[in-house]
Amino acid sequence: MRPVRAIVLAAGQGKRMKSNKPKVLHEVLGRAILSRVMDAVGALGLEHLHLVVGHSADVVSDFVSNNPPNCPFSTHLQSPQLGTGHAVMQVVPALEGFEGTLIVTVGDAPVLQADTLARLLATHREKEAVITALSTVVPDPKNYGRMVRDQDGKVRGIVEDKDASHGEKLINEVNTGIYCIEWPAAAAGLSSLSCDNKQKEYYLTDLVAWAYHSKHVTETMVLTDFREVCGINSRVELAEATVHLRDITASKLALESGVTIVDPSATWIAPEVSIGEETLVLPGCYLVGNIEIGSNCQIGPFTVIKGVVKIGNNTTINNSQVNNSVIGDGVKIGPFAHVREGNIIGDSSKVGNFVELKKAEIGHHSNVSHLSYVGDAVLGNHVNIGAGTITANYDHLTKKKAKTVINDGASTGSNSVLVAPVELGVEAVVAAGSVINKAVPDGALAVARAKQSNFEGWSAKRKAGA
Ligand code: UD1
Ligand code: CA
Repeated sequence: MRPVRAIVLAAGQGKRMKSNKPKVLHEVLGRAILSRVMDAVGALGLEHLHLVVGHSADVVSDFVSNNPPNCPFSTHLQSPQLGTGHAVMQVVPALEGFEGTLIVTVGDAPVLQADTLARLLATHREKEAVITALSTVVPDPKNYGRMVRDQDGKVRGIVEDKDASHGEKLINEVNTGIYCIEWPAAAAGLSSLSCDNKQKEYYLTDLVAWAYHSKHVTETMVLTDFREVCGINSRVELAEATVHLRDITASKLALESGVTIVDPSATWIAPEVSIGEETLVLPGCYLVGNIEIGSNCQIGPFTVIKGVVKIGNNTTINNSQVNNSVIGDGVKIGPFAHVREGNIIGDSSKVGNFVELKKAEIGHHSNVSHLSYVGDAVLGNHVNIGAGTITANYDHLTKKKAKTVINDGASTGSNSVLVAPVELGVEAVVAAGSVINKAVPDGALAVARAKQSNFEGWSAKRKAGA
């Protein structure tokens, strides 16, 4: 099998986004457009990925070094940007000695699915084509290049919207900007491109007419679902692509993973998220990141889960926010809990309403049920944190944080403050309203509050004006 490389074009400005940020770095369900395109091509097992950068080249290159594709890659500067054909020309020196297939794709089609590319590649190989273009039929051909076919139905060229005649503008089979190209067979075609067109650009699309006229095998694959390959040129299209990716993801979860999504139109789940069988996702959820959720869970309604999160089986998260944390089996979270970054919550534990956790490591069967802040803390098993307990972990002057350790079976009464660093021993008990700044030994009761005084008959005296 001939080796495969990808060329991803990301040098364009994306003026219509009205943004300081490069177009390809805008996100769709929590992941940059460019990363989503690289994910799709990367799934084909590439020998190398060539990324063409130009506008905001530094920003895009930095982003890719920090978020690299799953294969060796290099960036190629295109400056100035003289069109998609010119962009590919910048990669030619790096293709010296390469004999194989190039998957060339626009960098702004984030919904593109890996299996579509795999089918395109299979068609291309089966037909032994020099170029195979992926096209699709759209209700509104907008600014897309039109596929122009001959009497036999063979594509003889692609005409850009700006160059199209009145008749050509009526064609609604359009170019997706995604191709398989044989190398070095197409090299001659690439160097023959001219910029004799309305935009004075070197169009990669003209490679199709070159191949057709040179009697090379020129193929197309028509994709049924046009929404998968919509290029993003404005924030309106960004929103449309997000909706479509949401729908594809929800269908896959329902059909392949046995997940019940009560209202797919009101539930936003990124394709990276894996969810186990019989898990129920209620409306209003936004789940983006590398998230793994087990089976028989109930997520939502109105729950945000972000970052790298792992959730076991039989866990419930209701009306809450969870970031970068690991949550065990049979855990109950919410309503209205804020599980911030770096928490580990053990099996059968509970995090109730108006509780904020940060870097809290909690054992199994422990409860933080109401109105608490627990940060930089290690809690053992069977711990009970009373309502309103606060770990005072932060020194505003030194900007340092300190740790609270609460051992197995310990409990705090309502409205306790644990001034860190501090440790509660095994089965230690803190009386309600205490401010604890010294270690409490195993099994001890700590009371740290003013003694109560009762003044008999005080109310009556006050009414009498005494
Ligand atoms: C392009 C295609 C069009 C197709 C559409 C699909 C050409 C000439 N036209 O048009 O037929 O229907 O995509 O979405 O190819 N880029 C560069 N360097 C450049 C110009 C563009 O790297 O000099 C990159 C852009 O960053 C972008 C991609 O190429 O990722 C497509 O460029 P864009 O300007 O969006 O092309 P379209 O006009 O949409
Ligand atoms: Ca485009």
